[in-house]
Amino acid sequence: MKSKVISYLFSICFVLWVYNAIAQKKIGHETEEQKNKRMEWWKQDRFGMFIHWGLYALPARHEWVKSNERLTNEEYQKYFDLFNPDLFDPKKWAKEAKAAGMKYAVLTTKHHEGFCLFDSKYTNYKATNTAAGRDLVKEFVDAFRAEGIKVGFYYSLLDWHHPDYTVDYYHPLRPSNDADTAAFNRLNANRHMAVYRDYIYHQITELLTKYGKIDVLWLDFSFPNKGGHGHGKDKNDWGSVSLLKQIRKLQPSIIVNNRLDLNEYEDGGDFATPEQVKTSALAKFKGKTWETCQTFSGSWGYYRDEHTWKTNRQLLDLLITSVSNGGNLILNVGPTARGEFDYRANKALDSIGYWMHANSKAIYGCTFAPDGFKAPDSTKLTYNATTKRLYLHLYDYPSDGLLKLPGYKNKIKYAQFLHDNSELKYVEDGNDIILKLPVQKPLYEIPVVELVL
Ligand code: GLC
Repeated sequence: MKSKVISYLFSICFVLWVYNAIAQKKIGHETEEQKNKRMEWWKQDRFGMFIHWGLYALPARHEWVKSNERLTNEEYQKYFDLFNPDLFDPKKWAKEAKAAGMKYAVLTTKHHEGFCLFDSKYTNYKATNTAAGRDLVKEFVDAFRAEGIKVGFYYSLLDWHHPDYTVDYYHPLRPSNDADTAAFNRLNANRHMAVYRDYIYHQITELLTKYGKIDVLWLDFSFPNKGGHGHGKDKNDWGSVSLLKQIRKLQPSIIVNNRLDLNEYEDGGDFATPEQVKTSALAKFKGKTWETCQTFSGSWGYYRDEHTWKTNRQLLDLLITSVSNGGNLILNVGPTARGEFDYRANKALDSIGYWMHANSKAIYGCTFAPDGFKAPDSTKLTYNATTKRLYLHLYDYPSDGLLKLPGYKNKIKYAQFLHDNSELKYVEDGNDIILKLPVQKPLYEIPVVELVL
């Protein structure tokens, strides 16, 4: 009898243990349905603009220059003293974003260097105390909202200026040997993360209470165990759980990225953030909620001498491939120290705008193709489930104008070019459809065929 009771209790414990291991923890109480509603616009809009702008635009050689070159606060001070963005005109930025077809924009309110573009009452290291003399975040918010673009804030969890932010693996003042814990300890003797943690909490509170409705919050980033010697930073350093609770309380409909190191929680972030990955790496995110963040040329801040700019075709491929795998693209611009997009950025945005003007229906509200539709050779597919239109993005235009749609027989009702709604005839061939395109390729880098299902 006794042994039966013991084995019974043992089974209960085992079931509870398995349940605990499987069930993910939650921070809030939002239902699946509420979450879907909250994420609706974001999944619909698909294409956003990232803006990385700060003091690092002056050295113009990477937004990590302070860490890369191990600059002290004193050495970095000249960029603060000389910051004078006389051409800053966010209305122009917003118009450029809109013309490129971008529906939301996320600005660095503070990057790792610690400089705040907003008028925070918790620091003097801010735009209001430079020649700019005003709250640049406020102007960004007003300008983008006026163009109907949703606004988001990027906020760096790292801070290489704050006196209480402890020296870690990435800090400009880090010891030359990652394993030299004693040296880290010496440097951190008078630094108190708890004070810095409060600073984050207060600044996030300012950002989410002083600028009206904020659509996206992009927090960057956690690096637990980085280097393997305990000099990384994680959710405990940031106070991530209470921070996220505060964010949700202040802005219940805001969408938050996943870099708070809260992956163990089901609701620890709203979307995954594959950074600067190749298009071939995006397929594995299919079915998840995600946004890939990408640059024009490699760095995020303005980098004068970087000459690895992506072509129009590569940028379009990023956008199309993101949507064809059910995700978003946020494409970054790094304005110059004078506060404007440089000619290379403008040219890239204009070319995207030219394509989007004609083909945005294959992007907005779209996702991956339903099962049973295989992408014909040299094409990628996107699909709008509401209008039941399937889009073929023609990467290599067939020289004879004939395109085989494998297994598409009885699946389509009509075909046309998307850019001008001109009919495309087709014939059946066994189970396939042969689409007859004009021999002359339309004047779009990647023309799009719209199929009515
Ligand atoms: C990285 C970099 C950073 C950039 C960000 C954008 O984590 O630290 O410079 O802001 O990614 O995704």
